[in-house]
Amino acid sequence: MAVAKSQSQEGGPTPGAPRLHVAIVMDGNGRWAKRRGLPRTLGHPRGVEAIRRTVEAAPTLGVGWLTLYAFSTENWGRPPGEVSEVMRLLKAYVNSDLDNLVREGVRVRILGRREGLAPDIAEIVERAEARTAHNDGFHLQVAFNYGARADIVQAARQLMEAAREGRLDPEALDDKAFEARLSTGGLPPPDLVIRTSGEQRLSNFLLWESAYAEFVFQDVLWPDYGLEHLKAAIAEFTKRERRYGGTVADDVLAAG
Ligand code: IPE
Ligand code: IPE
Ligand code: MG
Repeated sequence: MAVAKSQSQEGGPTPGAPRLHVAIVMDGNGRWAKRRGLPRTLGHPRGVEAIRRTVEAAPTLGVGWLTLYAFSTENWGRPPGEVSEVMRLLKAYVNSDLDNLVREGVRVRILGRREGLAPDIAEIVERAEARTAHNDGFHLQVAFNYGARADIVQAARQLMEAAREGRLDPEALDDKAFEARLSTGGLPPPDLVIRTSGEQRLSNFLLWESAYAEFVFQDVLWPDYGLEHLKAAIAEFTKRERRYGGTVADDVLAAG
């Protein structure tokens, strides 16, 4: 893997273009396994292989920040055997890939609630962040035990406590001050949100941050995902016209 060096394969990013933040709802592991007559849990290890392919491909396609939705606050409601398999895979992924990520200049950040994680999982999360804290070649965020509503509520709670203790004037609260308290604080907002598997919903992912993101829904199950799918999603993104509530250059000219 050569993520820190990034650039430039055929069809890759234009040199000097701003790097994108791409966020992905990695969906379809269970269906991938079921279609093969396998227990749905067996889709998750194949999903980890798709994560490896995608982390390797992203920097070559002009992506500077990649945020992957790996486990939601609602996913605790799944059968215990499936939950423990996902936990085991997170540990195995960090144990096997962290040295390589450190070497390649990848900064790893875990988004989501730390409370309630088993001690061995909390340790893995802290180790992945601490060992990559000084990297900035490529930014990999893993949303784990993440729910956007819970994240917004914890931000509100921090701000209310600051106000109660006189450290914050409620009148001074604005978008910037609020989003700094989200677990994505300091990251650029996602430019492109992708969901695989054909479902077209956010499922409690980046509700605040994706206010002006472009959405691409791809009819591929996550374990089959790789460079070509990401390239196609980015190609679709580059055709979109982002307006942020304003007008486009042609309208300005037409309006004189
Ligand atoms: C996404 O795949 C992985 C996690 C949510 C952990 P799913 O497990 O949701 O796969 P489907 O949607 O049931 O096919
Ligand atoms: C969203 O997928 C969560 C992750 C990909 C981690 P789900 O499979 O849990 O979402 P729903 O239940 O289809 O909305
Ligand atoms: Mg799903």
